[in-house]
Amino acid sequence: PDDDNVSAGSGMEMDDRLSHLEQRVQLQEDEIQLLKAALADALRRLGCCEEITQASSKKGGPTKGQSLPSKPLTNGYVQTKRLSGYPSSPSSPKKEVLMSIKRMFLRGRPITMHIPDQLRESYSLDHKVALPERKLKLQWVYGYRGRDCRSNLYLLPTGEIVYFNASVVVLYNVEEQQQRHYLGHNDDVKCLAIHPDMVTIATGQVAGTSKDGKALQPHVRVWDSVSLNTLHVIGAGVFDRAVTCVAFSKSNGGAHLCAVDDANDHILSVWDWQKEKQLAEVKCSNDSVLGAVFHPMEANLIVTCGKSHINFWTMEGSTLTKRQGLFEKHEKPKYVLCVAFAGNGDAITGDSSGNIYIWAKGHYIFKVQVVSGAHEGGIFSLCVLKDGTLVSGGGKDRRVLLWDHDYRKKSEIEVPEAFGPVRTLAEGKQDELFVGTTRNAVLRGSFSGSLTPIVQGHTDELWGLDVHPSTEQFVTCGQDKQVYLWDTSSHLPLWSKDPGRSVGFHPSGTVLAVGTMTGRWLVLDTDTRDLVSMHTDGNEIISAVKYSPDGVYLAVASHDNFVYIYSVTENGRKYSRVGKCTGHSSFVTHLDWSTDSQFIVTNSGDYEILFYVMYNGCGKHITSADAVRNLEWATSTCVLGFNVFGIWPEGADGTDINALCKSHDNNLLASADDFGKVLLFSNPCSQPRAPSHIYGGHSSHVTNVAFLHDDSHLISTGGKDTSILQWVLA
Ligand SMILES: *[C@@H]1O[C@H](CO)[C@@H](O)[C@H](O)[C@H]1NC(C)=O
Ligand SMILES: *[C@@H]1O[C@H](CO)[C@@H](O)[C@H](O)[C@H]1NC(C)=O
Ligand SMILES: *[C@@H]1O[C@H](CO)[C@@H](O)[C@H](O)[C@H]1NC(C)=O
Repeated sequence: PDDDNVSAGSGMEMDDRLSHLEQRVQLQEDEIQLLKAALADALRRLGCCEEITQASSKKGGPTKGQSLPSKPLTNGYVQTKRLSGYPSSPSSPKKEVLMSIKRMFLRGRPITMHIPDQLRESYSLDHKVALPERKLKLQWVYGYRGRDCRSNLYLLPTGEIVYFNASVVVLYNVEEQQQRHYLGHNDDVKCLAIHPDMVTIATGQVAGTSKDGKALQPHVRVWDSVSLNTLHVIGAGVFDRAVTCVAFSKSNGGAHLCAVDDANDHILSVWDWQKEKQLAEVKCSNDSVLGAVFHPMEANLIVTCGKSHINFWTMEGSTLTKRQGLFEKHEKPKYVLCVAFAGNGDAITGDSSGNIYIWAKGHYIFKVQVVSGAHEGGIFSLCVLKDGTLVSGGGKDRRVLLWDHDYRKKSEIEVPEAFGPVRTLAEGKQDELFVGTTRNAVLRGSFSGSLTPIVQGHTDELWGLDVHPSTEQFVTCGQDKQVYLWDTSSHLPLWSKDPGRSVGFHPSGTVLAVGTMTGRWLVLDTDTRDLVSMHTDGNEIISAVKYSPDGVYLAVASHDNFVYIYSVTENGRKYSRVGKCTGHSSFVTHLDWSTDSQFIVTNSGDYEILFYVMYNGCGKHITSADAVRNLEWATSTCVLGFNVFGIWPEGADGTDINALCKSHDNNLLASADDFGKVLLFSNPCSQPRAPSHIYGGHSSHVTNVAFLHDDSHLISTGGKDTSILQWVLA
């Protein structure tokens, strides 16, 4: 057709045209998806007709080439009522069928859900569900953003260290094992500064998009670290992309605040934060800016550093005048990575070549002293201690060095390899030191001892989550190829091991199964993390591994559209395949077992709900609605189904809810959505657009949720933010 010819003079702008084409591709993809699903449905019905024919032709034996177990079920469920499940079936009275099903639509695809008999009489769409009485409160954040943010860890006079993860600013008292959280931000926090009063804190965030598509503006929040009250919000509508550096002035009582916007021009701006008024702004550099700080003695002097530059800015009125730092005969470093100030006002910089330069006060354009090759590789952080000595932290060499007043090396310690290079350094009490690392850990230690981790986490997207059946432990795994077993009271991993995408505990708690990205799945001993068993089914992502409540079966759901059923013996130590569930025309996304361990229900990428039975031909697909409508399910991780359809928002596209779970007392449902939110509903949730409590904290899609065995806590895991949040139920 004409409008497919790009060179035809349609008059449309290229961009419009592109998005038009994208839309059409999307529509076509949707149509193909629908066709595939319809085809699969037809095939399933065909298979089912064949079976009936066979059963009635009295021979009964398996037909050549048939992969499904051909013997029909003898319990009466499937055999006698198979046909009545279809609304279109002539043998079923239409009226009754209409009353027993509920339809919803996702992307134009109808989803049929069966209403349990018990509810059939009383069910009404107009009935109102109540908001759950219980609420969530964020209790613990497992994570620190060290990968790509700098100068983001400090000790406060309250004894808490302060840092951020996703959109949460964490205040962590290590001795008391307590965290408090500042939750004012609505997207990723990228920078943090402490006021000279040591109480007021400024944090800057990125631009984002809200659930309803509205732009969330980047801004700086100034707040009180004792009360956690927000004092001022600065720069909303002024900043463009993300606030990546923020600092308070020091010598004028901390009246000013400077910030750098990570837009193309890297605008440096200065604010009277109490009046929320901008005093000056200037294009800082075309290259990336990594640090911006006020001089400790001169209120009008700001130092910025970054890609091949160090600049000294003086503010007069509303003008900022730049003087470039000159490296003279020394090679200009690729990056100046950090700045600190000596007690006498000298500026000290660390760069990507491992050199420390000292820029004497009053002569900022000349470097006056060099410690070359202080580190092998870049110097990521510098910290001047109260006694005036300097600590430097290395990237490549992971070393932390202590320098005396004459810049002679006094002492050193090394960050263990597993935690990665030094990101930032913070002075603790007495001779204590905190080290944030680029692999998102925080360590504590001193030059006279060693460094031990106090914050740890995943480093890539994580989807796998399950709770221990009887203790306060839970297990997570992610694309960083790590499986972590966590303790909710010590807040540290008990162990870690690679790799994994999905996890599930055996009901005994002694072993756990881990699904990977490649079709391989393993069974690990919970205590020793030893490998107990290893199998491969297909070569695609294993999206769920789930033991039946009685521990007799393991269901392994794959992106190859199948669910593999294993029989489990010797208390989770021995596995043999007993069935393969076929019928899905798209990847299997979720799976639940019935409480009697005899049935599973599955959801797929094309929004189908299928049921399978375990006895008489293990993994056999069930088409009879009557056989499944009254089943009780041990868990509620399937996002599609009559008991849960109220979790879907208006206009949902079917991919915006990633995970669901039910509390063990059956009163609550928690969902994980694509907009960084955790939602809490009353269970069951069978009214359209049911009311919910909504919780922020994650800054990207939430990938999974699970209630601890005693419903005391909810755990949620993040996608891009790779954080784990622990919520207490109040
Ligand atoms: C696209 O349009 C141009 C100009 O109108 C014409 O010469 C060309 O043959 C068309 N190509 C196709 C594939 O229709
Ligand atoms: C949150 O913490 C995790 C674990 O430490 C880390 O991998 C991740 O990068 C952090 N994410 C953000 C957005 O802060
Ligand atoms: C940034 O780039 C523009 C265009 O390439 C140039 O005109 C301008 O001088 C540069 N600014 C700085 C601060 O280097």
